[in-house]
Amino acid sequence: MPGRPPTSRRTILRGAALTPVAGFGIAACGPGGASTPATPTAPVDLGAESEVPEGGAKLYRDHNVVVSRDTNGALKAYGTICTHAGCAINKLRGTTLVCPCHGSEFDATTGKVVRSPATEPLAELPVRAEGGKIVAGPGA
Ligand code: FES
Repeated sequence: MPGRPPTSRRTILRGAALTPVAGFGIAACGPGGASTPATPTAPVDLGAESEVPEGGAKLYRDHNVVVSRDTNGALKAYGTICTHAGCAINKLRGTTLVCPCHGSEFDATTGKVVRSPATEPLAELPVRAEGGKIVAGPGA
């Protein structure tokens, strides 16, 4: 047996990591963090309004945004970073968004979860049509 007992164990206190809660606080890694998918932090031009049909939706993968239009012509936009573990959703089936990581599904017209494991809805983004183009993101 060694003559010296182990010294006291160090306890590592984990400080609050300032986890973003709800809203748009998803882009946590700062500029240049290309590997962390994020939703827009400013208005982005998504292209022709005519690409989003009434009663349908379009997924803009490059911006992590989905835009849908109801039968009255009103637009809705949601960020498409999965609320389960932060993967970028890359598939739209009709008006259902499908996350590639663990299979969560969301309604692109309401942002609501339609299939777990996600439990929280997608973050809604401001959206408007301007000069025949769709603009979405905070401040739009
Ligand atoms: Fe989307 Fe887990 S990150 S289902």
